[in-house]
Amino acid sequence: MRRPFNAGVGLGLAAVLLTAAVVACSGGDDDAPGTGPDAGTSHEDSGTPPVDSGTVDSGVDAGVDAGTDAGVDSGTPDAGDDAGTPDAGDAGPGLPDGSVVIPTNLSDLKLFTGSPAAGGLQPVEGNVPYTLTTPLFSDYALKSRTLYIPPGKTAGYQPKDVLDLPVGTLITKTFSFPADFREPDKNVRVIETRVLVRQPGGWEAYPYFWNDAQTEATLAVGGRVVRGLKFIGADGVERTLDYLVPQKNQCSQCHHVLDAQQNQVLLPIGVKARYLNRDNDYGGQQLNQLQHLADLGKLTGLPPAIQLPRAPDAFNTEEAGLDVRARTYLDINCAHCHRRNATAGETSRLFLDIDSTETLDLNAGICKRPGSAGSGVGGEFDIVPGDHAVSILWYRLNTEESGKMMPQIGRALRHDEGSQLIADWIDNMPARTCK
Ligand code: HEC
Ligand code: HEC
Repeated sequence: MRRPFNAGVGLGLAAVLLTAAVVACSGGDDDAPGTGPDAGTSHEDSGTPPVDSGTVDSGVDAGVDAGTDAGVDSGTPDAGDDAGTPDAGDAGPGLPDGSVVIPTNLSDLKLFTGSPAAGGLQPVEGNVPYTLTTPLFSDYALKSRTLYIPPGKTAGYQPKDVLDLPVGTLITKTFSFPADFREPDKNVRVIETRVLVRQPGGWEAYPYFWNDAQTEATLAVGGRVVRGLKFIGADGVERTLDYLVPQKNQCSQCHHVLDAQQNQVLLPIGVKARYLNRDNDYGGQQLNQLQHLADLGKLTGLPPAIQLPRAPDAFNTEEAGLDVRARTYLDINCAHCHRRNATAGETSRLFLDIDSTETLDLNAGICKRPGSAGSGVGGEFDIVPGDHAVSILWYRLNTEESGKMMPQIGRALRHDEGSQLIADWIDNMPARTCK
């Protein structure tokens, strides 16, 4: 059995967050109030890490690295939606060919010990917590992420695309809400843990939903709705939403690249050098995440620090100028759908990846009439330089109206800070009349 990290060794912010216990947010059928031990310091995704800015590189993420691969042939039972018998002994959750049996209970993946209700969810040794310089906004949920690369295997560095991750890799992302974001460590309710797994035949995605008692998360292929979830925001305002855990088959709406036959091939999104290039707390030490992976023997080909690309924290004005911060926000929040080789990008011809928005042209939305819009989306053009109030892109980012809001899946609430950032970006462009 792998051991959990010792206190003081390698426990990142993610783990700390998860030590918070139990249910605070009230909510319909899923309500289960209670109190629990307090976590230590917590980590909010949208915080401002004290890291200096570097050059921002970027990426068309189209490189088809997903899918096919990795020197191990399949022919082994691919894990289906329902549970098999999880076998995870010393070698980790993998079978001999590297494939991972997908269990009904998250605990049977043996990536964590404990639970939110009992001492916190602690990543086991080798399951490395990480965070991103700028994350995806998901209704203000706090998120913690871990990366597990099986023993004896390594990831390959990629300057732009997602790291080249070997068969047997498991990536988790856990979503939770404190009752009050002004005290983010208290009364935290953990809602879901999403898992991406690299099988011999390609990536697979699985949603797990945490029970009210916060003792176990179980596979929820059909997704879940947490009705009437309430929290008090960092601004002191109470918000209520119906929080949606996506269905398994919705994961690929965002997590895909189109292959030559125009089929969607599933792949991770955020585990790119430029988003990983920041410090994190590993056992009380601030270490660069990429360097830490290399030091663990889990990442090969890492260039010297000075050559590493870096996406800034989109909300830290000290890290980069408005233009780069706004484009980074669009890159991580929109570009998985809006880019070349992704379904929505190809149909709408709106490309919001960091490279495409560098030249502010038609494909970046400048004076672009939408293909699909319909009426009541705030204007005639995606972006009218100098005037966010008549720009459809801002309108759809700002609205909470279903059918109009962007992204159309993955959020129910407006991201006030993101909406302001994009408004400022558009207003700062030299004014222009679109025709
Ligand atoms: C609305 C788009 C969207 C949907 C739907 C979505 N994801 Fe993601 N996911 C993202 C983005 C963007 C990132 C990277 C940014 C981050 O981690 O905040 C990400 C990150 C992840 C990660 C961390 C590894 C990575 O790709 O960087 C996991 C694991 C994950 N998602 C699993 C899932 C699963 C499982 C589902 C379906 C139940 C799902 N996601 C549905 C957009 C989405
Ligand atoms: C899950 C995939 C997905 C994500 C993520 C997503 N979009 Fe979209 N977007 C679509 C689809 C599909 C369409 C076309 C249908 C429609 O207009 O509703 C579209 C259309 C649009 C349009 C109209 C474009 C045109 O010229 O036709 C705008 C503007 C837009 N999206 C902005 C955004 C912004 C801004 C974000 C990020 C905050 C975003 N989208 C994230 C899927 C997505």
